[in-house]
Amino acid sequence: MKTVVLVYSGGLDTSVAIPMMREDYGFDRVVTVTVDVGQPAEDIKVAEDKAKALGTEHYTVDAKEEFAREYCFRAVKANGDYQGYPLSTSIARPLIAEKAVEVAKKVGGDAFCHGCTGKGNDQFRIEFVMRTLAPELDILAPMRERNLTRTEEIEYAKAKGVPISQSVDKIWSIDENLWGRSIEGGRLEEPDYSPPEEIFQWTVSPEDAPDQVTEVTIGFQSGIPVSVDGHKMGPAELIRCIHKMAGENGIGRVDVMEDRMLGLKVRENYECPAAVILIEAHKALEALVSTRKEIAFKNTVDQTWADLAYEGLWYDPLKEDLEAFIDRVNERVTGEVILHLYKGNATVSGRRSPYALYSEDLASFDSKTFDQSEMTGMVKVHGMQARMYHAVRRSQS
Ligand code: ARG
Repeated sequence: MKTVVLVYSGGLDTSVAIPMMREDYGFDRVVTVTVDVGQPAEDIKVAEDKAKALGTEHYTVDAKEEFAREYCFRAVKANGDYQGYPLSTSIARPLIAEKAVEVAKKVGGDAFCHGCTGKGNDQFRIEFVMRTLAPELDILAPMRERNLTRTEEIEYAKAKGVPISQSVDKIWSIDENLWGRSIEGGRLEEPDYSPPEEIFQWTVSPEDAPDQVTEVTIGFQSGIPVSVDGHKMGPAELIRCIHKMAGENGIGRVDVMEDRMLGLKVRENYECPAAVILIEAHKALEALVSTRKEIAFKNTVDQTWADLAYEGLWYDPLKEDLEAFIDRVNERVTGEVILHLYKGNATVSGRRSPYALYSEDLASFDSKTFDQSEMTGMVKVHGMQARMYHAVRRSQS
């Protein structure tokens, strides 16, 4: 008996893959895996129902807490942002693939199947993890191999009795997890097409947001968000709580031109209220407790981390090396940040930490601790080489 483990969303692409695996690829046993990373509960239910209707052996793996703790909060520590996109789809893919590997090991799978097309980033992210953790298994990507158009796919689905949900008629291609929603497709691909209100689900339009400020205090412990307005919360709960507050204030809509791994430039719309706020707050706390050189160096480390995470190289040794630095710097990122949420903006309005590298006495205009007269000699040598350069130029003209 040959077994294939299909990473299953319940959508059209992965659903038509089921009869294909049986009829064209010769697998007698199709095992479907849906990984819950915080997508809508009804999507999980649809996947379970369709898997049942299509007679697969189905597994739903609840990975929400792990995703929040190990992936979203790791992204907070690294201020994880790629070209203005707080990484969300990209960081969920490795975890989804990892769970598929676990199921494959359990059921004795011979191959993996996924529904990624040949144009996107997800094929790289998913296959890298599968090949790293289970190099002995084959990987099949029928959507990429077959190159079917949407209409051909629907016809095939009808012919094979694959249930087609209304979502097929929807123009938008949406990927959703606890950390963010990504909306693409239809006219949204045109860089100058203004996104219609209907694509947003977590955020109100900034102009409809309340006319008064919402103040929120976020507590961090070693770089990890742990409380909201003094209430301790677990990772997934905290993310949901911030989503609600931020969404009500129209915060978290991101519209970017994104350079995909292949080099394609694609217009992308995201909704990621918690990511926007938590990263903003985290940066504010880092600015209070880290030295100037740590901050400058960490900017480059964060950028390289984000590139690796975007490419799905979750187990790259460099990523682990960078994380050693990121974790070390974050040991002191403990304290509270106060933000004002107002009509689409989150503004940091205060920060405090027991590790603050700040002394009111030294910085204050009124202080006598700092003997200003000692500065005279230091100021005299400031810019010495630049002054010489100008002197030399003057003498030669
Ligand atoms: N471009 C994004 C990324 O590579 C998100 C793609 C999500 N897919 C979707 N159908 N909206 O991370």
